[in-house]
Formats: sequence, structure tokens, C-alpha cells
Amino acid sequence: MPNQKLLKNLSYLFIFSLSSSISFAQQHNHHTSHQDHSQHADMVMPSSNEELLSKELMPKGQPLQPLPVLANKSKQPGVFQTDLMIMPTKVELIPNKPTTFWLYEQKVLPVIDVMAGTTVKVAIQNHLSQGTTVHWHGLPISPQVDGNPQHPIKPGDTRNIEFTLPKDFSGTYWFHPHPHEYTAEQVYRGLAGAFIVRDPNDPLKAIPEQNLFFSDLKLDKEVQIANNTMLDWMNGREGQFQLINAQYQPVISLEGTQRWRIWNGNSARYLKLSFPEDQVEAYQVASDGGLLEKPQAITSILLTPGERAEIVLTPKKQGEFTLTALAYERGKMGNVAKEQDLPLAQVKMQPKDKISLPEKLKDIPNAAKAAVTYKVEFTEVNNPNSPAGVDFLVNGKKHDLKRVDFTIKSGEEQEWEIFNNSHMDHSFHLHGPQFQVKEYELAGKVTKPSFKELKDTINLKPYEKARIVFVDYDKGLRMYHCHILEHETLGMMGQVEIK
Ligand code: C2O
Ligand code: CU
Ligand code: CU
Repeated sequence: MPNQKLLKNLSYLFIFSLSSSISFAQQHNHHTSHQDHSQHADMVMPSSNEELLSKELMPKGQPLQPLPVLANKSKQPGVFQTDLMIMPTKVELIPNKPTTFWLYEQKVLPVIDVMAGTTVKVAIQNHLSQGTTVHWHGLPISPQVDGNPQHPIKPGDTRNIEFTLPKDFSGTYWFHPHPHEYTAEQVYRGLAGAFIVRDPNDPLKAIPEQNLFFSDLKLDKEVQIANNTMLDWMNGREGQFQLINAQYQPVISLEGTQRWRIWNGNSARYLKLSFPEDQVEAYQVASDGGLLEKPQAITSILLTPGERAEIVLTPKKQGEFTLTALAYERGKMGNVAKEQDLPLAQVKMQPKDKISLPEKLKDIPNAAKAAVTYKVEFTEVNNPNSPAGVDFLVNGKKHDLKRVDFTIKSGEEQEWEIFNNSHMDHSFHLHGPQFQVKEYELAGKVTKPSFKELKDTINLKPYEKARIVFVDYDKGLRMYHCHILEHETLGMMGQVEIK
């Protein structure tokens, strides 16, 4: 790929788009060429000059509220049953100025909290005017129930799904829509939930927990969720409000040692969370796919959209500090502001008895396979007809519902090489099995991860490669994609069939 040339073309494109702005009609045509949306009167495509609500109008500094937990409707042991009714719901983030979100069960960020080995039964009812699916991000379940875009639940329809979790599988996961063309929109309108799987023998179960679900919110002057602009489609949407559990800059109380489960549920904003050494002792204890082999002392951690981590924190003194996302440069295109540190919350510390961590948390096998079976390459190509002005491609192609990009065997060990052949960070997410990163390669330099962890989403810097190892024991069609949701929705996604 001629990268230098691409860069030049992109800057040219941006100047062009500023002066003329991609027209409403162009964007609409682009979309209707895929599918007929005529029945969706609410699907107005974005203009690029919406006025946003001032940040000052959003209340902040309130105590962090726990996420709402979905109750179990089943009385059978080992079974968790719930409805997931999907509908527009008004929420008052600003007193007397309700914002219409799209929610599951009329709750903002509900949690499903189950034990390992549980059979999960969900009745999904779609009351939107668009098709939707529910994808269970990180769970090793059959593609038949994993919300593939090939199986939309039409407006007004209900679908019952059921899956059983493995007995030796626990950790911090989530669920969100995954329909063709509408994933980005349905997530930014509020559809997401947390999914916690508990191990009865969790070595950390004595430690009090808090959940911190990060999500992004962009509100217009009318206090409604704003549409995506061209820059949002291009770089991924970043609203003016970075929320935690749907609260703006809340106050988190850290009394003694706590375990924080953290989700980056943002559409696109990367979060390099900082845990200042002079304030707290911080250990990462889990990643996307559950516990690490050993606790890792950290002072910061980068979580890209879709990634999770569990951190055990112990306050070093009585007092208060600002939980901050440190500026992270991810190579955004166009005329965008320089990255800055972003305040997220105030943490009020109260030291108590410290709970110390075991040296070992879990056994993780060594990543094996030494020969690459498949290569996945991300690229960007100019396309003035795209809402982003750019096409985001995998192996030179846009996602196609009907195309199988690779076929692999169920139960067979895979080593894939993921190559970000572009000048902007992209992430790589694989549905279904967790994987291990064997090594990264950047500018000819190979680095091995310094500790073992199971991942389903990783970041790739510009021109970086990662070699990952996994086995998928299921059969069917899996998606893999960049988890910047605008890129995923515009087609930076491939499909692998497991036979
Ligand atoms: Cu969390 Cu295919 O996504
Ligand atoms: Cu996923
Ligand atoms: Cu991307």
C-alpha cells in the first residue's frame, strides 16, 4: 500500500470536505445502495455542523451509582433468565430535560451477573424501528446465538436465545447490538450492558468490588443524542461527555482495598487510565478473558473501545485525587484538536485494612503454534462517497454479509498475523474464543508480551503487527473487526467460517 500517497490524499480530502461538506444526499445514497431504509423515518443521516450542548450544563460530582442488575426470572438452579426489551426511553441526565436513549429493559447499562457454567436464556424484544441483534462480547458461545449481523431481529419481533457458559470460564464481559450498518448508532444511542461471570473459587472474592462502565455521550443543544459527523465516521465518535456508569465526573469512594471491573464501552475514545503512585497502589488482576496469571503492578493502563480490565486498588493515604485519562495520540485524521488529559472522576480515599493479593491467580497455558495460518491486514482508502470520506478495509475489502473471508477447522490451533497497515491506531477484536498475543512487531522490532493474559480485543499502532494464537471449538460464522464502532459499521470487518 502506498502509505505516503494515502496520507496526502487524505489531507487533500479533508480540505475538500471542509469547504463543500459531504452532502446529505451523498451520504444517504451511499447507504441506500446497501439496503432499503425507506421504512426508517428516524434514520436521518448526520449533518456536520450540529451545535453541541455546553459541558457546563451537565451535573457532576455526584456519588458513583452502581449499575442496575437484571433480576433472574428463572427458579431453576444453574439457569439465568431475563427479557431484553429494546426500546427508546427518556432519561433525565439534566433535570427536567429528558434525553431519549435506546435502552435494554429501560435501564442504562444493565448488568447480567452469573456464575460460571450458567445456562443463560434471553428473550430479546425489538421495539426499535431498525433491526438489531445482541452480541455477547468475549463469551465463547456458538455463533448461532452470538448476534451475527446475518440474523437481525426485525422491528416488532422477539427472539429467544439460550447458551451455556463453560464451567471454567469467568471474567468481565459485555453485550451490545451488532446489526448490519447500525451498530455504531445503536451503541451511541445507549444500547450496551455488562456481563459478569463469577468463579465460585475466585482467589479475590474477599475483596469488595465496584463496576466502572465507561461510555461516551454526545448531546446537541436540545439535550438529545447527536448524529455522527463526517469526522466522527472518520476518526470514531468522541462526544463531549465521557461518562462512568452514565454519570459525568462522579465521585468514587475508595475505602480500603477494592477491585474495580472496568469496561471501555466507548464508541471510539481510547482511555489511558492513570493510577498515580503517590495516591494508590494498583495491580491489574484481570484482562478481557478473566484473571491474569499473576497480579501486575501498574501506574496506568490503556483500554481501547471494547477492552476490559480488573484493577485492585489500595489507597495510600486519606484524601482525594482526580482519576484521569492521559492524552493518547491515536493518529486521528483531519483538523482535530490535540489530545489532552481528560478528568474522569474524583476518587475519595479512606485507608482501611489492606487486603494483599495471592502471588498466583490462575494458570494460563503457553501460546503455542509457530506458523501463521492467516493474515489480516487493515488499510484505509479514499472514498469521497463514504460518510467518512475514507473506506476502512480488511484485506482490501469492505465487510460483506455474504462473503466468507477464511475457513478454519473447529478445534484447530490458529496463528493469525494482524497488520495495521495504516497511519492511525485501529483495534482488532475477534468474536468467540479468547486469544493470546505471542508477539508484536513494529518497525522490524519484535516484542513479546511481558505477562500472560487472555484477550479478545487488542490495539495496533500504525504499521504494527500482532501474532495471535487461539482455538475456536464452535462451528459457524465469526466476525473480526476494528472496535472503533464507526470503522466496524463502515465495513472494517471480516468473517471467518469455522467448520
Ligand atoms: Cu464488541 Cu463485534 O463486537
Ligand atoms: Cu465481540
Ligand atoms: Cu479502526
